[in-house]
Amino acid sequence: MLFTESKIGPVLLRNRSIRAAAFEGMCPGHHVSSELIRYHSSVASGGIGMTTVAYASVAQSGLSFAHQLLINSNSIPELRQLTGAIHREGAAAAIQIGHGGLMADKKISGVCLSPSGGFNLYGPTWPRAISMEEIRNIINDFSNAVRIIKEAGFDAVEVHAGHGYLISQFLSPFTNKRKDLYGGLFANRCRFLVEVIRAVRDAAGPGMAVVVKINLRDGFRGGMELDESVEVAKLLEAEGVDGLVLSGGFVSKAPMYVMRGSMPVKIMAHYMENPLMKYGTRFFGGILMKSEPFSEGYFLDDALKIRSAVKLPLVCVGGLKSLEMIERVLELGFDFVQIARALIHDPGFVNKLKSGEVVTSGCKTSNYCIARMYSGPMACLQHVAGADAEMGL
Ligand SMILES: Cc1cc2nc3c(=O)[nH]c(=O)nc-3n(C[C@H](O)[C@H](O)[C@H](O)COP(=O)(O)O)c2cc1C
Repeated sequence: MLFTESKIGPVLLRNRSIRAAAFEGMCPGHHVSSELIRYHSSVASGGIGMTTVAYASVAQSGLSFAHQLLINSNSIPELRQLTGAIHREGAAAAIQIGHGGLMADKKISGVCLSPSGGFNLYGPTWPRAISMEEIRNIINDFSNAVRIIKEAGFDAVEVHAGHGYLISQFLSPFTNKRKDLYGGLFANRCRFLVEVIRAVRDAAGPGMAVVVKINLRDGFRGGMELDESVEVAKLLEAEGVDGLVLSGGFVSKAPMYVMRGSMPVKIMAHYMENPLMKYGTRFFGGILMKSEPFSEGYFLDDALKIRSAVKLPLVCVGGLKSLEMIERVLELGFDFVQIARALIHDPGFVNKLKSGEVVTSGCKTSNYCIARMYSGPMACLQHVAGADAEMGL
């Protein structure tokens, strides 16, 4: 089943595997680097059906990192090099677009916005409530970004509507306390998402797949729960999106709900430059980034609830590390699987599954890759000399 061709919207993939958007940290100065091209090219030559470039911001105001991709009209030539390299290896190219909202770093973004303002301990930031005009501008930024990436040759766009970034902040009752048309009732909390998707769908046109990454649950009490995600999925199906990626978690409240396991806070702190952040992370990181139990296919049970509620293609993600689990997920009715850590560990993972060289990933789920990406390029514990010793810092 994994190794059968399948279409997502108008795009034919050579198999049902997609490299999940996992922030590479390889865009210094907000530009595509040769390191980013090399990495995605290696995932493509490693057999993936489609690879997703992670967490590109549609606007300066949405940037969380200095080494994060920013999409603007100057990006077309460098993005073309990236899509060209991916296509030459036989894979389709997708890019995840989003806006950080309260997770934007004001020193880089110039402003920090959220649906209704308030303090965010995890930045730490003090976002201000976004105005109606800013809402309209950001919807426009999404649509401009899609025009640019389409021209640059991407086959698919993945809109990041999960993990507690701006769209997810609108959806969540925890961060959206607005009293106007964009807050309060569930339908109002969905309004920003729907308007973004209409703009994206329109700009993408019929030749490009539009995929949306959503939360099954925010992962903490007071956040969005599964009953509302089922309704979000139905809404997006009605808007004509080509697929949904089913994830969960909230970076400013339950970050480890996304990836599970524990965050190696000492590594994260070690690579930070800002002394306040460094010592804050070292001493309080364990409390703020609480461990969550990891199991293979950890979102599967919740994702099945969405499977029975909608007919559109669904992408299962979260702890898919073995061929057995991947095949099980596909047999249960999911159309594609997304994989992140197993491909950070080994970009050739999919071909190795195909040839029988491996049946399961060698990734130990140490989450070293996550701790590293905040301050530089992501890296795998098992490939960095001395990293084991670093873990015991
Ligand atoms: C280093 C790293 C960076 C990530 N960055 C992003 C991101 O930019 N956008 C996103 O939607 N998810 C991100 N994720 C989450 C992954 O897309 C995926 O949902 C999660 O890791 C579960 O898949 P896995 O078990 O195959 O790793 C990241 C994960 C890792 C490990």
